[in-house]
Amino acid sequence: MRKPFFKKYATSAMITLLLLVVLSACNSAPESSAEQEKTERPIIVQGPMPIEAEEFAQKLENVTEENSGSFVFYKGTVDDYPVIVTKTGKGMENTAAATALAIEKYNPIAIINQGTSGGHDPELDVFDIVLGQRTTNTGSLKTTNLAENEGIEPTEWKPMDLMASEGSAGEDPDAENIRYFDGDKDLLAAANAVKEEYTKGKVVEGTIGSADVWNNEIDRIKWFHENYGTSVEEMEGAAGAQIAQAFDVPFLGIRILSNNKVNGGEYNPNTAEANQEYVYKVVQQYIKDQKDN
Ligand code: 5AD
Repeated sequence: MRKPFFKKYATSAMITLLLLVVLSACNSAPESSAEQEKTERPIIVQGPMPIEAEEFAQKLENVTEENSGSFVFYKGTVDDYPVIVTKTGKGMENTAAATALAIEKYNPIAIINQGTSGGHDPELDVFDIVLGQRTTNTGSLKTTNLAENEGIEPTEWKPMDLMASEGSAGEDPDAENIRYFDGDKDLLAAANAVKEEYTKGKVVEGTIGSADVWNNEIDRIKWFHENYGTSVEEMEGAAGAQIAQAFDVPFLGIRILSNNKVNGGEYNPNTAEANQEYVYKVVQQYIKDQKDN
């Protein structure tokens, strides 16, 4: 007996539908790690000098190198998650430019600026690490008004917040404030979660001061410590923090003391490697936290 017309076509339509369901199930199977890399937003780890970036870059897997201007981006993975180590070069300008470029090029989920620093806090020793609960630009200052031959009065200089308004910072009394950039709370949580694993010194939260200046005058260092609450000084963190904030990207500075003028701590370049070992664990923890959420 011949099947009725609609029954014959209903059967083949159902078979087609079933095939489509099976095919779409195959497509939504878990992505391979290579595919994940294309979609997951990378973590950027910045280091100014070769000794502050290359140790971390060597720990990356599947590394490729990209250059833009004077900046080097080592693109790879940590625990199958994309991480890009940037050798920024020293100083505020390099860091600001490398941060903006990285954000535009790679759309990062978070940025860690790390490296060496000089102590402002007498309680901190060489090899101790400061997590930048906040970061501030200690080079943004307004001097007093003094006439010719009246000298200079650096201890009377006022902080100058270049982000207070779009008007003249020199004329605006509201700009006479210290601008602090807060460290991201999830990055801080990851850093605190692994701090016991660091055995070469203490890990504390504190204030990182940045400027294109290396202070060796103890009274000046003390002035920043008392007036700005600085734990350490370096030359990059606040520049990265300011640009990360402009693009709303989570940011944290992590700085090891390579020297401390206020308690006689001698410069030790091996601190750069120790910091990268610790920051690697912070990155692993942050990745774990991302996967768990
Ligand atoms: N003052 C300023 N920068 C310092 N650095 C290490 N110690 C200090 C210090 N006492 C870091 C800076 C810069 C390089 C000179 O070393 O961040 O990258």
